[in-house]
Amino acid sequence: MPEPIKMIIDTDPGVDDAIAILMALAAPGVEILGLTSVGGNVPLARTTRNSLALLQAAGRSDIPVVKGASRPLRGKFTYSTRFHGPGGISSRLPEPTIRPVKRPAVQFLNEKLTSHKPGELVLVALGPLTNLAKLVQEYPCSLKRAKNIVVMGGAVNAPGNVTPKSEFNIYSDPVAAEVLFSSGVPLTLVDLAACRQVSIDRDRALGLRAEHRIGSLALRILQSWFRKHRDRERFEFYDPLAMMITLKPTITTVTKINLNVSLEKNSSWGQTYESGGAGEITLPLHVDKSRFFRLLESLFQMEGLPVA
Ligand code: RIB
Ligand code: CA
Repeated sequence: MPEPIKMIIDTDPGVDDAIAILMALAAPGVEILGLTSVGGNVPLARTTRNSLALLQAAGRSDIPVVKGASRPLRGKFTYSTRFHGPGGISSRLPEPTIRPVKRPAVQFLNEKLTSHKPGELVLVALGPLTNLAKLVQEYPCSLKRAKNIVVMGGAVNAPGNVTPKSEFNIYSDPVAAEVLFSSGVPLTLVDLAACRQVSIDRDRALGLRAEHRIGSLALRILQSWFRKHRDRERFEFYDPLAMMITLKPTITTVTKINLNVSLEKNSSWGQTYESGGAGEITLPLHVDKSRFFRLLESLFQMEGLPVA
């Protein structure tokens, strides 16, 4: 029996964040200690509301949601409402009746990391890295107590998705990313080159079926993303791949790198690039696609995924 995973998810839901969170809720042996919200895809108030609404819709109002950063360490968030919709999640969820915990996210993260033994907690970061960077700055010894830190972000040797060179999460707060990557804390960076290996086209997505309560919610969110815009032909599983790698690290090959983030105020802003040598950052390379979709199929009891 594999060891249970105790997890905190730092997130900016976000359509793909929502699917990743539902994967963790559906995964056997995973205990989610909390969601820490951050601005990013949509403003903080909305990412916090979406986190609460998602947990309540999934019947997990017991899991705390803790508000984090409303702005990056420098500048402002640019948001991504064109992709995620004005509300941040394509499918309207009932207004939550639960409220966020009245503590700052950084304090919550520090308390959980220091009240658990070193090597016990897994952190999954699915949005801009502002909360984690503030944790490094305010509690320098806290983050290294994590068992594993998995970040969705970056475009290492790959084109960006918000500019030709930069990926959205890093572009949204490159100063925070630089604080985290230069802290020396080991982490896994699931970048766009990995995420683009797992996607689904419109016709196949609209033909999917799911029995499971959590799987049906994920399916509703995915299908409504396609239905909202007739020209949407493909959905890439950005945050879901980061979550799947957290649950099943062996679904990819990996390499170890040192990473820099460009803070130049030009077209390179937020670009992630290797600085040579084998460092503390684990970079997934080749994704076993059929295994990813078989695992997703089993988590959500979903039929019609490209498992072959
Ligand atoms: O670039 C993709 C990332 O940016 C995903 O985490 C998505 O949710 C957005 O936050
Ligand atoms: Ca996200």
